[in-house]
Amino acid sequence: MTDTAHPTATPTTTATSTATSGDRRPPVLPRATPVETLQVLGGLVVPLLARGVIVRRPAAEALAERFDADARAVRLLQRLRHRHGEGPLRLRLPGRRMVVLLAPQHVHRVLDGTPVPFTAATKEKRAALGHLEPHNVLISSAEERARRRPFHDAVLDSASPVHHAAGPLVRAVVDEADGLLADAAARGELDWDAYVAHWYRAVRRLVLGEGAADDTDLTDDLRRLRAAGNWAFLRPRRRALQRRFWSRLGEHLERAEPGSLAAHAARVPVEPGTDVVQQVVQWLFAFDAAAWSGIRALALVATHPAHAARVQGEVAGRDLAVPQDLPLLRATLLESLRLWPTTPAVLRESVERTRWEGGPMPEATSILTYAPFFHRDAEHLPQADAFDPRLWDERAGGAVAGEWPLVPFSAGPAACPGRNLVLETTSTFLGRLVQGHDVELLGRPRLAPDGPLPGSLDPFTLRFAVRPRDVSR
Ligand code: HEM
Repeated sequence: MTDTAHPTATPTTTATSTATSGDRRPPVLPRATPVETLQVLGGLVVPLLARGVIVRRPAAEALAERFDADARAVRLLQRLRHRHGEGPLRLRLPGRRMVVLLAPQHVHRVLDGTPVPFTAATKEKRAALGHLEPHNVLISSAEERARRRPFHDAVLDSASPVHHAAGPLVRAVVDEADGLLADAAARGELDWDAYVAHWYRAVRRLVLGEGAADDTDLTDDLRRLRAAGNWAFLRPRRRALQRRFWSRLGEHLERAEPGSLAAHAARVPVEPGTDVVQQVVQWLFAFDAAAWSGIRALALVATHPAHAARVQGEVAGRDLAVPQDLPLLRATLLESLRLWPTTPAVLRESVERTRWEGGPMPEATSILTYAPFFHRDAEHLPQADAFDPRLWDERAGGAVAGEWPLVPFSAGPAACPGRNLVLETTSTFLGRLVQGHDVELLGRPRLAPDGPLPGSLDPFTLRFAVRPRDVSR
């Protein structure tokens, strides 16, 4: 049994469902009513599934923006917190134990307690990711995780803000940003299709080398497997497609092209059973989230002129093909990920019974952290709906330093090992796009700097005009 609470626990509300004074019954975790359970399913779980958990469905993203789906879900959880207190709040589901976390200290406790007593390899994730990477660290047992996770930390240089061998990686990124700018100049605007085409070309180059630059069949196959993953248990695995994809990816990795992550991967000693190919599948897959957050960050820069001027100052006169930290652009991306997290549902499952202030939680309980609830909780985070990159500045006492759970990359032992690399490469890409250019967002009035930002922002319909910078202004 585990009974640890995060050391910086800060109670948010006082209501609980524990026994009242004089009542000797043991406390039990608060329980949602059947109607509230339906509201959580309808307002939160179904929209997440409809939008696609492994690859996003553009039509559903557009609807989510139109109905401000994430903001509605945040308000629903706020109401439940007012009614039931800190939780964890049990839902009433037939044949399934599930709780929703409502208190910041519980988020820290659960994420810090991975893989025991809270495994990241939940039934839902195993069903979904099993379509593309059944041996990936994310859905591994505690023992397999201990063997597989060091591979990611070593190759991705997870602890360093600037990857130790980033030269060729950022050069590929800068090249592709230049290609995107040329494209935008020719077509008169920069849109998602062009953005993602150049971004993924950069991703194939930096992960697998120049020999994979134009292998769009590889990433198209991955997209097909991800689309199957959206259906989790409901779709049989596409075995032939899996074999074709893994074998093609394996060939690229075997080339170990100098300068690419594949070359680093080939040099890192690995434990038997690591299954390098299936670890790298997650990298190719996860760089997609970098494209969504990158294009949304570009929208933030384009609609916040004072910030855009500071960003121009950050990149002016710099050779971006040289690896470097770009703190303002990095914070812009982190804000994009706070405002519109690309992994809104962080899932864990208890592998043993645990004790909580409110009562016991049995083993095999699914635990949902709905990131937007904490990222956009205006009752506790005054800047919740504004763009405020200072939130990420620990020296300025931002929320990160204050231990509020801003968890776009999760936290604890299963936190994203690609965090630093993705922030470095994406901020370089964005830096190159804005260096010497003015960027204007087309057709999205709701992103004005003085109003609250929308709860959902469809990345697939963002469009920009990009013009050489008018230095006379
Ligand atoms: C903006 C881009 C990205 C975001 C927001 C992101 C977010 C996340 C999150 C939230 C998790 C943890 C999920 C959980 O706790 O259940 C995760 C795990 C992981 N990410 Fe990322 N990720 C991004 C990009 C990347 C990239 C580019 C790579 C590799 C190059 C990567 C590699 C991984 C791996 C290997 C794991 C599994 C870690 C483990 O289970 O120990 N991610 N990521």
